[in-house]
This record gives sequence, C-alpha cells and structure tokens, in this order.
Amino acid sequence: MRTRPLKVALLGCGVVGSEVARIMTTHADDLAARIGAPVELAGVAVRRPSKVREGIDPALITTDATALVKRGDIDVVIEVIGGIEPARTLITTAFEHGASVVSANKALLAEDGAALHAAAESQGRDLYYEAAVAGAIPLVRPLRESLAGDKVNRVLGIVNGTTNFILDRMDTSGAGYSEALDEATALGYAEADPTADVEGFDAAAKAAILAGIAFHTRVRIGEVHREGITEVTAADIASARRMGCTVKLLAICERAADGNSVTARVHPAMIPLSHPLASVREAYNAVFIEADAAGQLMFYGPGAGGPPTASAVLGDLVAVCRNKLSETTGPGESAYTRLPVSPMGEVVTRYHISLDVADKPGVLAQVATVFAEQGVSIDTVRQQSRPDSQETGGEASLVVVTHRAPDAALSATVEALRKLDTVRGVASIMRVEGE
Ligand code: NDP
Ligand code: HSE
Repeated sequence: MRTRPLKVALLGCGVVGSEVARIMTTHADDLAARIGAPVELAGVAVRRPSKVREGIDPALITTDATALVKRGDIDVVIEVIGGIEPARTLITTAFEHGASVVSANKALLAEDGAALHAAAESQGRDLYYEAAVAGAIPLVRPLRESLAGDKVNRVLGIVNGTTNFILDRMDTSGAGYSEALDEATALGYAEADPTADVEGFDAAAKAAILAGIAFHTRVRIGEVHREGITEVTAADIASARRMGCTVKLLAICERAADGNSVTARVHPAMIPLSHPLASVREAYNAVFIEADAAGQLMFYGPGAGGPPTASAVLGDLVAVCRNKLSETTGPGESAYTRLPVSPMGEVVTRYHISLDVADKPGVLAQVATVFAEQGVSIDTVRQQSRPDSQETGGEASLVVVTHRAPDAALSATVEALRKLDTVRGVASIMRVEGE
C-alpha cells in the first residue's frame, strides 16, 4: 500500500459534508485498505468559520474555497456546497488544478452537466456524482456502468425524500403540509431552500440526470415537465384512497416507442396501493428501470439525509482515488444519441379529474360530450351531491377517471370544461400511473 496519502478538499460541511468528514475519520483504515493509499482531509471550506464542527481540526477550516481548490496538491475535491455558483467555478477550477471531483449537486449537474463533463474530460479528471440522485441508492453507477450494454426504455420512481415524507405523513397520520415540511427540514432531508423540493425542482434535476444517463443523451432541467406537491390537498389524498390509490411525486423518463425522442416529467400522481411504489414510506426513494434485456429492475433505499448521502459520496471517493492511483479515469459522459426531448403534450397517460358541477339534469351528458369531443375516453365516473350547497342551487362533486390519452388532449378537455356554465370549478387534475 502506498504510504503517501491522497489529499481531499471538502467544500461544504453541512448536513452531508459533516457526515463525509466523520466517516473519512472513523473509517480511515478501511478506506485506505480499499483504495490502496490513505486519504487525508486537507482542508474544509465553509461559509461560517466560527461554527463549532465536531471531529474536525479547526486548522483545516477555511472560508477561501477558491484558494483551497487551487493549492495544486489536492487529489480529490468533494463539492457538497450545493447551488450553481460558486460550486460551478470551484469544480472547474479544481479540474484545472489537477483534482478530480465528487459532487452531490444535482441542481448544477442538471443545469450544466455537459460543460462540467467536458471540463473534466479536457483535463483528464473524473467527475462522479452518485449522491446527486436518490441519496444512498446506487443508480448513477448502475446506469453508467452495469447497464451500459443494455437499452434502457423507462425510468420511473420516487426521487425526492422530502416530498415523499410530506405526502406519507399527510396520508397516514393526517399531518398538515407545513408541519410535515418542518419535520423533513429538521431531519436534514430538505434543500437549503425547500421550494426546490416541494415545487419539484429537485426531482426534476434528478430526472434530467437520470434521463441523460439512461438514454445516452442530454436532458437539462428546463426540459423536464415539472409540477410540485403544493397543490395536493387532503381531498386529493382521500379521493385517491377511495380509488384504492395513494398520491406520490413521481419522476418518469421514457424513450418514445419509435426510439427517436424522450420525455421527462415530474408531477404528483395517483398510484394503486398494490404498486410497490405505494409502500415507499417516509424519506425513502425507489426507482424502477426497464431495459430491453434486463427487464424490470427496482432500486430502493434512503433517498436523503446526511449519513445515506455521505455513503454515496464516500463510494465515489473510493472509486476516484483508485482511478488516481492507477492513473486512469472512470467513464465520462455518454450522450451520443442526442435524442430530442418531446413536450409534455405528447405524453400519454390516465387522469383523475375532480369537478364541482351544477346538480341538475343533463350536466353529466354535457361533461361527457366535452371529453368525447377531445377524444378522451372516460373509464369511470363518480358523482355525489353536496347536501350543504342547496342555497347555491345544488352542487355536486364529479370525479372522472379517463383511459390513456395524450396530455394535450386532456388539457384541451379541461379548458373546454372550464367554459361550461354548469362546471363551477375544476377542483383537481391528477395523473394516474402504475397500472
Ligand atoms: P447544507 O446547507 O447543510 O450545507 C452546505 C454547506 O456548504 C455548509 O457547510 C455551508 O457552510 C457551505 N457553504 C455554503 N456556501 C459556501 C461558500 N460560498 N463557500 C464555502 N462553503 C459554503 O447542505 P447539504 O449538506 O444538505 O447539501 C449539500 C449538497 O448535497 C447540495 O448540493 C444538496 O443538493 C446535496 N444533497 C443533499 C442531500 C441531503 O439529504 N441533505 C441529499 C443528496 C444531495 P456553513 O456550514 O458555514 O453554513
Ligand atoms: N432534498 C432532497 C430530497 C435531498 O429531499 O430528496 C436528497 O437529494
């Protein structure tokens, strides 16, 4: 074993970084044996230098992350600051000064992954980011390496721990949305700005990364259709229950049947309670991958939090250090298919639409006609009068579940429904998946 240590710069020492530092210290001997050389924490960049950081030599702390990555003796930079800048500049500077990079930064990778890969390649360095998608669950490396000989057609799953935690709490314990979000934040699952979680940006970033790797193309976060969970109501969850379903925030990436394009989307959806994703609780994540030869694979595990995410970071650290020692690099970006990303309107799925309608003769026929005119076939209809609404002339709640139809046709249907005098409101629209 080489005795001269490999030097590691840690950028960020928050929820994830502090766990990375802890494991690097407590598992130092095992890591050295697995790598073939000891790894030494050479510096830790933070924003607030006076904060007490247990187990970290205060002499290692710096607020000058740029100087740290420019030192020239750093072998690996671990970036767990998050966000676009200064993370992007620090990573490219690290490559220029001889370091490989391990990052958990999905927002940056989904925004600018191609440029980062190009920068790594031009400098002959590694860029690894297993922790960027689904916490501890190995997904990036299985897709990049284990499935590199197969043809992946679909990736579907729960990739955001915070929103799964919130929806699970709302469903099982009747907790309120804000209360559940506060709990997820306290547990270290949520992003620095939890809007990224609840509005679906975090899951969209992960979907972009997964779609790019799975289909050997490039998908940027802006090309992912995104809807968060802020509009999901207790009534939606109760309605899902009545249908034998639950509500989950799903990320779905698909290769078109003709193989000439892909779609990537993130939105809440009803899934049957019998579907394996329905039993994914708390901040756990689960992802199905469908491939030509492999068939269906399921990956499941903790999707957020310090220790699980640090596990993925440390796995990458070992791989990158091994590559350094053997003077090689791991697989770079594989985006040769350059498949276009189709708009959401072309996605075909089922829908659950909840309407508030006038409770009088002919309304059901009017509503059914609108669906028929847009070519959207109805599967089931459930109508219930509202006894409390007699003073408004009588109102009923109408729940329509459709067969599979293009998203554009559903949007046109909803637009036409809103124009009917007898439709007092469209209470909710939710896709139905996993059947
Ligand atoms: P935190 O907010 O807990 O930690 C961020 C760290 O970065 C802090 O130590 C902060 O310093 C430091 N920092 C912020 N700005 C700067 C700067 N300009 N220069 C130097 N240091 C800076 O975030 P997390 O640990 O939760 O997340 C880090 C990354 O990991 C993000 O990309 C996130 O998306 C990703 N991730 C997080 C997961 C999780 O469950 N939390 C799971 C998977 C990925 P200070 O301590 O002084 O404030
Ligand atoms: N905020 C993210 C989540 C962290 O809740 O899933 C893990 O990427």
